[in-house]
Amino acid sequence: MPIKELSLNDYFKCNNIWDMSKDPDRAKCWYDELAAGNRITFVYIEDEQYLGEVSLVKENGDSDYTVPGQRIYLSRMIVKKENRNQGLGGLLLDHAMCYAKQLGYSEISLGVDISNTGARRLYEKKGFTNIIFVGEDKDGKFVKLIKTI
Ligand SMILES: CC(C)(COP(=O)(O)OP(=O)(O)OC[C@H]1O[C@@H](n2cnc3c(N)ncnc32)[C@H](O)[C@@H]1OP(=O)(O)O)[C@@H](O)C(=O)NCCC(=O)NCCS
Repeated sequence: MPIKELSLNDYFKCNNIWDMSKDPDRAKCWYDELAAGNRITFVYIEDEQYLGEVSLVKENGDSDYTVPGQRIYLSRMIVKKENRNQGLGGLLLDHAMCYAKQLGYSEISLGVDISNTGARRLYEKKGFTNIIFVGEDKDGKFVKLIKTI
């Protein structure tokens, strides 16, 4: 099974997927959430190389995204550039949805920029078709999506 739950000690191996030094604030925030147990991260590993990751967040302070025991938030799905379009993102997403269901959640939420057509197509294919919010932030227009699991 190439997908494993990430342990805190291995967090910095995700630097192989994305350059943490370019986004230290988010890298620290996600590390802290992982340490606190609020974030569960799954990584796709091949030949000991970390190639992709996705996380589930139990509480993120936005009631559109998280409802205790009911709705969990899918966060930071990313596949290393060179390894995209080989199905890794889809496998990570399937794994996260399955795990969330096992934890007892009935809904999974996520946010995606409207301009991110590749990610949006993948989410739609996996059943994220229910738009609950359309908004705009510093990165542009985005939607919040929900899927029943
Ligand atoms: C979004 C993202 C995670 C998708 O990861 P991915 O590994 O490329 O996803 P997949 O390979 O499963 O699916 C992408 C495409 O590859 C196709 N594909 C799946 N398996 C394949 C295979 N074995 N061979 C060739 N293509 C395949 C899929 O059909 C899909 O095509 P489509 O978009 O035409 O439907 C990736 O593009 C990424 O990291 N983007 C930057 C970060 C980002 O935007 N994250 C989302 C934030 S909300």
